[in-house]
Amino acid sequence: MMSQDNAELKNLIAKLKKIIKQLLSVLSEFYNFDFKEIIKNFPPDDFSKISLNAFKISDVKINNPIIAAPMAGISDNAYRIFAKYLGCSLTFSEMVTSYGLILNHEKSLDITKLTDFERPCAIQIFGSDPDIIANAASIIEGNADIIDINMGCPVPKVLKTKSGGYLLNEPETIGSIVKKLKEKIKKPVTVKLRVGWDEGKINILEIAKIVENEGADAITIHGRTVKQGYSGKADYEHIKKVKSNVKIPVIASGDIESVHKAKWVLDYTGCDGLMVGRAARGNPWIFSDLLLGLLSTSENREAGFKNQSGESLNNPDINFIKNYFNISNNLKVDFMLLYIRFLIYFKGEERAVKEFRKIIGWAFKGQRDISSIRNKFFKINTFADAEEILESLR
Ligand SMILES: Cc1cc2nc3c(=O)[nH]c(=O)nc-3n(C[C@H](O)[C@H](O)[C@H](O)COP(=O)(O)O)c2cc1C
Repeated sequence: MMSQDNAELKNLIAKLKKIIKQLLSVLSEFYNFDFKEIIKNFPPDDFSKISLNAFKISDVKINNPIIAAPMAGISDNAYRIFAKYLGCSLTFSEMVTSYGLILNHEKSLDITKLTDFERPCAIQIFGSDPDIIANAASIIEGNADIIDINMGCPVPKVLKTKSGGYLLNEPETIGSIVKKLKEKIKKPVTVKLRVGWDEGKINILEIAKIVENEGADAITIHGRTVKQGYSGKADYEHIKKVKSNVKIPVIASGDIESVHKAKWVLDYTGCDGLMVGRAARGNPWIFSDLLLGLLSTSENREAGFKNQSGESLNNPDINFIKNYFNISNNLKVDFMLLYIRFLIYFKGEERAVKEFRKIIGWAFKGQRDISSIRNKFFKINTFADAEEILESLR
């Protein structure tokens, strides 16, 4: 099923590229900007090839700052392929347990399977024991472009095993994990952190220096504490401080939801990359919006950063921006039908239609009849039924 030569997958990719070309015209109109001129050296249907402030994670070239966040239950093969063609320079797997990998669990190994259409991709592992994490990484490093370690997950089940965000309480263990990984594997090693355990224990600068000293090739920082979960706002102050104190690339994560915010965070923190998570759920065209929006502003200088009343947007508070980029229902339906087809390719029809239930809610958020549409999805199991519902939304 994962064969790279699979004609069916190539056919799906060709369809995706066709829709992306349409998206390019929509974005040109939205930004009142002719992207074709800028991207004439790049394919107009694979935005990940667009070069904008490219950087490297060890020897892996990262073409632009837009990166697809790891999200358990979401960032699967289909998600990553969409993310990549829509502009992401790097994708991440869902987190996978180090124990599951060393015990050869099929479910864990499945998470690490990649096609060439979603690369470069970091496979993210979580665990608590440096040796087990390093052994797990060595089993799957052949598949990965980068091995990333989760040091920020706030889910109680993960914290209980002293993994994820719990590790922020143990800077020494973090150092030892990176050291063991660097000894054991050849692929670049990165870590994904939060700013600290809680407000009273913000230790991201100390930890960033430890992982850099042990040889980590890049770090991602979600600007919240573990205790915060997803509440409050991401704090970019700590990320900025880390960026100015380490030499390895730093990727900022948290609340990147608009071009304005993306540009602000890049400028303010000086970070190399921006990770986009929740805002891309059911809304993957946001990757193209962010990348081409950044391109238009770097070419157009400050054009485009105004709200509907013409006021300049010079702070990160995105709440008053009214003119978010969105696409027509027609184009959304095209994207979503194709998304289900990709899910079916990777997971089979029944599971794909089931998993799509959550995606449809995000994709058509704000639509008047969205709850009745979602309810309909809960009663169906086939692509034909899903197609009928989606077609009615055009
Ligand atoms: C449903 C969901 C699942 C997530 N799963 C992971 C994960 O597996 N590994 C990880 O490092 N972060 C995970 N995250 C955190 C995101 O990668 C990201 O850092 C966080 O959501 C903040 O970014 P955002 O505001 O753009 O969503 C997850 C977040 C969500 C909402």
